[in-house]
Amino acid sequence: MEQLHYADLDPELFRMTRHIHISSLFMQPGLLADIGPILRAAHDNGVTVSLDTQWDPSETWKLDCREVLPLVDVFMPNESELKALTCSTTLDEAIDRVRPFLRRAMVVKCGSRGSILVASDGTRRAIGALLNPHAVDTIGAGDSFNAGFVSRFIRGASLEACQDMGNIMGAISTTAAGGTGAFADRESIERTARQHFAISINEVL
Ligand SMILES: Nc1ncnc2c1ncn2[C@@H]1O[C@H](COP(=O)(O)OP(=O)(O)OP(=O)(O)O)[C@@H](O)[C@H]1O
Ligand SMILES: [Mg+2]
Repeated sequence: MEQLHYADLDPELFRMTRHIHISSLFMQPGLLADIGPILRAAHDNGVTVSLDTQWDPSETWKLDCREVLPLVDVFMPNESELKALTCSTTLDEAIDRVRPFLRRAMVVKCGSRGSILVASDGTRRAIGALLNPHAVDTIGAGDSFNAGFVSRFIRGASLEACQDMGNIMGAISTTAAGGTGAFADRESIERTARQHFAISINEVL
């Protein structure tokens, strides 16, 4: 994670894929330094990009939103990360600061309070979480949300449908320990969705 740079990536990878999800950027200093060339390579190959920076352990937040966000299709921070990145005290202020640079959308994850979808035109859609009163563990809920969102995004679904799927997968993640415990296989995911949240994923898809 310390050493990986853009030069280490096979350019063929950018031609083989449709979408790249970048996570934990601040824990990968080589990729952080090279984020411009990486995003341009994706863009030049028609590859869409989602970015969840996660928290910056150094708390220096060296990411130039003006340069980076216009090349990111979906920006996926959580509330505290967005506020720290934009030096904002309120979420509204933080959203207003990045909104002019959004390519397509941002989805802000707000834990058990849900998420806010912000389109590049400023339209907002806030939805509550599918509350799990018996949450076992919320570690990985954010990544599960991202996976649900992106799984719909790459199939061309509306941003609202992407957010809804992120919401379901984030909630399912809280029903078992760790980030992947609740996702053993398709059948168990469907069972959990029905038992805990009275939702059928097969019907949503
Ligand atoms: N207790 C909960 N019950 C139901 N859904 C939840 C709960 N906590 C989180 N979620 C869902 O998961 C999404 C992501 O969670 P959160 O906001 O904690 O992300 P995060 O801070 O990025 O998490 P991570 O620690 O995985 O990086 C939320 O927006 C919500 O949809
Ligand atoms: Mg997160």
